[in-house]
Amino acid sequence: MLHIPVLTAEVLEILQPGKGGLFIDATTGTAGHSLAMLTAARAAIKLFCLDRDRYSLEEARNRLKDFSGQITFQEGDFRDLKLLAASTDFNTPDGIIYDLGLSSYLLNEAERGFSFQREGPLDMRFNRTLGEPVSQLLNDLSSEELADVLYQYGEIRESRRLAARIKEAINCNAVNTTTQLADISRRVIRRHGKSDPAARVFQALRIAVNRELESLEISLPQAVEILKPGGRLAIISYHSLEDRIVKNFLKQNEQLRVITKKPVRPQREEIIGNPASRSAKLRGAVKI
Ligand SMILES: C[S@@+](CC[C@H](N)C(=O)[O-])C[C@H]1O[C@@H](n2cnc3c(N)ncnc32)[C@H](O)[C@@H]1O
Repeated sequence: MLHIPVLTAEVLEILQPGKGGLFIDATTGTAGHSLAMLTAARAAIKLFCLDRDRYSLEEARNRLKDFSGQITFQEGDFRDLKLLAASTDFNTPDGIIYDLGLSSYLLNEAERGFSFQREGPLDMRFNRTLGEPVSQLLNDLSSEELADVLYQYGEIRESRRLAARIKEAINCNAVNTTTQLADISRRVIRRHGKSDPAARVFQALRIAVNRELESLEISLPQAVEILKPGGRLAIISYHSLEDRIVKNFLKQNEQLRVITKKPVRPQREEIIGNPASRSAKLRGAVKI
């Protein structure tokens, strides 16, 4: 299943690909935003399509085959943005987009272990050839360290109790799959509102295993460094930890003029059509 791109019209308004130039999609996924940029600009743009997940990139390549002469695909982490862009013609782009987090394509692939609703292995790596899966992380961390991860990245108040339960279950070999972990989480965490308590546990572990916040902090200064003067930056985040990093970075960077006074949020109709968009916040800036 392809991911439905979020805030597409608003992203195009910030990046203005219709004027042409070189653009980087730092989180290509299944190419929803890339396709929108290419369609808006026709032959006038060239696009550097980056993603950490090679399977998403394969989907993107398929979807964008009509534009293949205009695109360079690259598997990699945006923490290496400057290096990766420098190895191509994209070392001074006119615009860069980051659409952070998880795509519905990855969420639906049960064997990747991202979904708490689908039975799968405890993996959650964007790149399955690098680093260690969640199962290893759960083994390696002490109960206190695991509690810190759950608290910091999932804002889970019951983090100590949940970490202890997970470690007990590991010792009895009783937590080998996503649904087992989700069940333990639901037994320990009190439900607030409609959302499933397992969602925050999976968010926390995904952030930790992929070092997501670190990648973002390392990448944003590189994006500003390589952008052309007048170049444009659009960033969509989906939870407060990411958004805080983005907001502070944009505010404090003297080379940037922020063009979204408040973060842009999806309209009601977009949320109804695509509930996954409900937490999205888009921020944009221009390099001075
Ligand atoms: C929300 S999806 C992007 C969806 C895309 N904009 C679309 O419309 O189809 C986020 C994507 O970013 C990728 N990603 C996450 N962290 C990354 C990183 N540090 N470097 C490169 N890609 C990353 C994920 O693999 C995922 O495909």
